[in-house]
Amino acid sequence: MSEIIDKLEGEKPSALSALEMITSQIELEDWKQTYLGKNSQVMRAFGSLGSLTKEERPVVGKAVNEVKKALEFAFTEKQNQVQQAELEQQLTSQKLDVTLPGKPVDHGRIHPLNQVLRRIYRIFGDMGFQIYRSPEVETDDFNFTYLNMPPYHPARDMWDTLYTKKEGVLLRTHTSPGQIRVMRERCPEEIRAILPGATMRYEQLTARSEIEFIQVEVLVVGKGVTFAEMKGTLLDFARRTFGEDARTRLRASHFPFTEPSAEMDVECFVCGGKGCSVCKYTGWVEILGCGMVHPVVLQYGGYDPQVYSGFAAGMGIDRSTLMRYRIDDIRHFRNNDIRFLEQF
Ligand code: DAH
Repeated sequence: MSEIIDKLEGEKPSALSALEMITSQIELEDWKQTYLGKNSQVMRAFGSLGSLTKEERPVVGKAVNEVKKALEFAFTEKQNQVQQAELEQQLTSQKLDVTLPGKPVDHGRIHPLNQVLRRIYRIFGDMGFQIYRSPEVETDDFNFTYLNMPPYHPARDMWDTLYTKKEGVLLRTHTSPGQIRVMRERCPEEIRAILPGATMRYEQLTARSEIEFIQVEVLVVGKGVTFAEMKGTLLDFARRTFGEDARTRLRASHFPFTEPSAEMDVECFVCGGKGCSVCKYTGWVEILGCGMVHPVVLQYGGYDPQVYSGFAAGMGIDRSTLMRYRIDDIRHFRNNDIRFLEQF
């Protein structure tokens, strides 16, 4: 019995001194294989316990276990040492060169429609207008009735509508219902506001028309607001948008919510008025509808039309942005294709 113990004890110092010399992970693995592996003295000693007497077994077993534990402990210590040393070696040999150029980070861009919107905000902001938001899901009343289009009014046919399943609730076909909301909020104060936002129509999808597009509504209400002021404001807007020399014209038109009504054209910004495919060889491009707010609309907004007057305008920005940047298909705007967006 003491033979086994002696053998083990005899081997212990050489095992430990072999461990002492080790400097790498690979050597560590070899050492472990030799001194703690299946065929090591220690493990074999465990195997031979069966041949001992009942009395000897616990004594020798305990001694073998102690040797094993001592070797394992020394091994773990050494392993930590080697790992630490290797790490330090790595850190000094692979120093980070902070002067190397970094990986480029892609910068996002502002969507072309939002760029146009921001320009419009600035121009109207400079003229003292406030920006309002109003709901994209509207009631039939706000979208039509309060804008002087009672149910069954034929003018409703000018706007192909998307209805929700809820009776009388629809996706707004224009930003004009926002006029009523601003008026009801501000009455009896005077108003100078623009209302930008998405509008939806039941349209055939083509390169020139989408189900969703963006409009900006303009509304001015006050005592003694005149058509001349409307003209001046919109002309100023057009000049600030298309350039000092941009020529514009007002054409008589019809909208149920304005009286009188007009449409404003600007000289084609692609061909300069000479005639091209963008302006369909007319030299002019329509940019907005406008007019004096109809008395019925003022009334629905809470204003007495005997005392107050106002003007309104509405412009779609998708199409003019298409023309301006010569974009061939309106559907690019909402496709989220980075190759398109990166060009602006
Ligand atoms: N809401 C009209 C449309 O979507 C545009 C419009 C025309 C708005 C004249 C107005 C206006 O405020 O006065 O076609």
